[in-house]
Formats: sequence, structure tokens, C-alpha cells
Amino acid sequence: MGLKCLVILFGLIKFCKANETMNTDTLSKVADSRATGGIYLTKWNRGLERGHQDTKKIEHRFWSPVQRESKFLSLFTVVTFPNGGCAGASGDNGTCMTARECSSRGGSANGYCANGFGLCCIFMTSCESSTSENGTYFVNSGYPAPYDGTGSCELTVIKSHPDVCQIRLDFDRFSIAGPEQMNHVCNQDQFIVSGGNPIPAICGTNQGSHMYVDAGIGTTNPVKLTFVTSGNPFERLWKVKVTQIPCNTIYKADEGCLQYYTGVSGQLQSFNYHPVSGLQLSNQDYGICIRIERNFCGIQYTACVDTVNNRSRAFTLTGNSNNPVNSMIGSGSGPNNCANDWLLIPCAANVGRLQPAQALCTDRICGGTFAADLSMQASSVLIGDCCKQNLGVAERSLLF
Ligand SMILES: *[C@@H]1O[C@H](CO)[C@@H](O)[C@H](O)[C@H]1NC(C)=O
Ligand SMILES: *[C@@H]1O[C@H](CO)[C@@H](O)[C@H](O)[C@H]1NC(C)=O
Ligand SMILES: *[C@@H]1O[C@H](CO)[C@@H](O)[C@H](O)[C@H]1NC(C)=O
Ligand SMILES: *[C@@H]1O[C@H](CO)[C@@H](O)[C@H](O)[C@H]1NC(C)=O
Repeated sequence: MGLKCLVILFGLIKFCKANETMNTDTLSKVADSRATGGIYLTKWNRGLERGHQDTKKIEHRFWSPVQRESKFLSLFTVVTFPNGGCAGASGDNGTCMTARECSSRGGSANGYCANGFGLCCIFMTSCESSTSENGTYFVNSGYPAPYDGTGSCELTVIKSHPDVCQIRLDFDRFSIAGPEQMNHVCNQDQFIVSGGNPIPAICGTNQGSHMYVDAGIGTTNPVKLTFVTSGNPFERLWKVKVTQIPCNTIYKADEGCLQYYTGVSGQLQSFNYHPVSGLQLSNQDYGICIRIERNFCGIQYTACVDTVNNRSRAFTLTGNSNNPVNSMIGSGSGPNNCANDWLLIPCAANVGRLQPAQALCTDRICGGTFAADLSMQASSVLIGDCCKQNLGVAERSLLF
């Protein structure tokens, strides 16, 4: 099966695919960013050598309109309110605006905002459409009913502002046919992102997951989101929230990060993860980044608890049986090396444990047990040298 689910407490992580060689340049960049407390990962061997621009990010809202609110309205008071985000009555998020603006931009009003002066305008669209509205929901044809047809359904995302750098996709609903059983290739349904940086096609169940798409500079190359459906009948359902991220914001993901996590703890799952029916997708190669939060300096990864299977399958990447299976590490050619698929965590085997004569960094982790050494005992993997300086790291005892 080959699934990956890790609990993380602050950190950085990366998934890689088969038959690719280690690139020390990339590695050193990773190491550099660790040293600066930032998180950065490039994609493996994709020519993505843009380098880590260690730019300081400043929260900067360049187009928020003037907000003026008054409790006491005279007959002549003009009320203006920002076109900020709002929560619609349906639970969907929208943009606060006047009724007229909402209908002229093609949205639908859904509850009040700005103290009742505005309407929460929701943008929802389906196949063969385009949007430049921030926060648009891209849904399947017939949503909220499932769609059981075949074909192609495309949304073109146009920047709402020239200063938009990234598009964040949130898979509020995402259920399309999964990969075939043999090689786990998405050969029926696919979700494809084009127009931005290369992104692996995915399929199956990915509800709750997300992606960041590089929107490039300029406004001439829109990002296209396409659901291709084919093959056997399947009740497909999707609702993808499309958020446009301005360039100079602190919530922009670093370059090369398909997924970006903030906060001091969380859970990472590979696409189409499910402890019983999930199949690891073929041909994936992407970076996951975790922002180090203030006063934190390291990362701890632990395989998720698997409450379903006798032997935990929360982390299996090669090595999938009901019997205990060794963890495998490193990039050599022996039987216990990760030659085909691996999870890359920079220098995973060199930290977090006191191991005599362990000089080399081992980055690749695979096998049937999650650990940075060859054992059947799952263990946490700790990253971050600064932890030794007693800087706010939980579970420090694991270090020594
Ligand atoms: C990976 O490498 C092995 C051995 O070199 C080869 O047999 C296999 O076909 C390669 N797989 C892919 C996906 O290129
Ligand atoms: C889009 O909406 C999100 C969330 O409301 C906000 O953080 C972001 O700045 C908005 N983007 C633009 C281009 O206004
Ligand atoms: C609306 O936005 C809030 C805050 O960003 C978020 O927690 C919530 O999940 C969003 N709801 C939907 C339906 O996207
Ligand atoms: C779980 O695995 C253990 C050891 O492999 C085995 O002894 C036990 O019978 C298994 N339990 C179930 C319910 O399959």
C-alpha cells in the first residue's frame, strides 16, 4: 500500500519519488534554511533551482479600502466597508460587498457582514468557467449532488490583482476515483493543475488536503484546474476553495512547497491516504514545508496512530505486510535502502539520537516502520540542532 501519515510537531519534510539522485545543492539549501529558522525544500531533480531567497516577509495589505464605521448614522452618512472575507450563512466563506456589487460580479449573497451594511457574497463555479474572485469555490457539476459522468471539467483562475503570487487550493470535498491496484497510477480520474509550477496529478480521496500553486509573475498565464473523469461509474464530488495569495504576506508559502503548514503541531498525510483503502499514488514528487513558529527551533516527526490495523500502516513505504517490517533508510543499494520510494527529511538519521560513530546524514526514510535507523521499533525523528540549546522544544529528553 505505501501510505504516509505523520504527526508533526514543528518542522520540515519532503516526499520524493523513485530513481532520482541526491542533489547536494538542494541539500545545502535545505540545511541553510534550517539554520536561519526558515523552512525550505526544493522539488527533487525538477530543475527547480531557483534558490532560497531569504526575503523577510512583511505583512502588507496593499489594497484594503478605507474602513469607516459609525454607530450613529445620520441621514447623510456614507458607509464604506472593506471587501474583506466573511462567513456566509451557509458556512462557506465569501467576500463582503454591496448587493449590487455581488450580483454584478456573479456571486450570490449569503448573509450579512460589516455590521449588516454589506452582504457576504459567495462565489461558486463549475466546469468550463473562469474566475478572478478571491475565495471562489470550484465544484463538480450538479454540486452538492455527486457527479457520475465522464469528461473534463476546467476552471481558469485569473489573478485578482497583479500582486498575487500563489494560489492556495483547499480540498473541502475531494472524492474522485482512486488509482488502479497494480501500480497505483491514476488512470481513471485525475485532478490536474497546469499553468503554474509542475504539480503531480492526484486522484482518490483528498478531502481536507491542500496545495499551493505558484502563480508566476505577470497576469498572462492563468492557472488551470482540471478534473478529468473517465472509466467506471463513480460518485464524484469536489469542492475546491481557490484563494489568491498576495506576494508580500507572511502567509505565503516558500518556493517549492506544494504544501505549507503553520502552527506548532499538526498532521501530514500523503495524497489519497486512508489506513484501510488508501493506495499510495505513483509518480509523486513534492515538498511539504512547515513554518517554524516563534521560539521553536526544531521538528519532531512521529508516525500517526493507526487504530484500524493490527500492525500500524500509518507509515509504509515499501514493506507492507501484517508482520513487522523493518524501517529502511539511506540511499545506497542494499536491501534496506530506499531505492524506489522514500520520504526525505534532511539529516533525519543524524539527529535526535545518540548513535556512536554516526557521521553521515541520512535523509531517506522508507520501509514498514517509521524510524531513522534500521529497526522494527517505530521512533520519532527529531530535526534541529538548536534544540540542544534548550530553546523551547517539547520532548527534549528524546534528544539525549
Ligand atoms: C527505476 O530504476 C530501476 C533500476 O535502475 C528500473 O528497473 C526501473 O524501471 C526504474 N523505474 C522508473 C519508474 O524509472
Ligand atoms: C484572499 O482572501 C484571503 C482570505 O480571506 C486573504 O488572506 C487574501 O489576502 C486575499 N487575497 C487577495 C488578493 O486579496
Ligand atoms: C472559512 O474561513 C475560516 C477562517 O479562515 C475557516 O476556519 C473555515 O474553515 C472556512 N470555511 C469554509 C467553508 O471554507
Ligand atoms: C496481531 O499481530 C500479532 C503479532 O503479529 C498477532 O500475534 C496477533 O494474533 C494479531 N492480532 C490480530 C487480531 O490479528
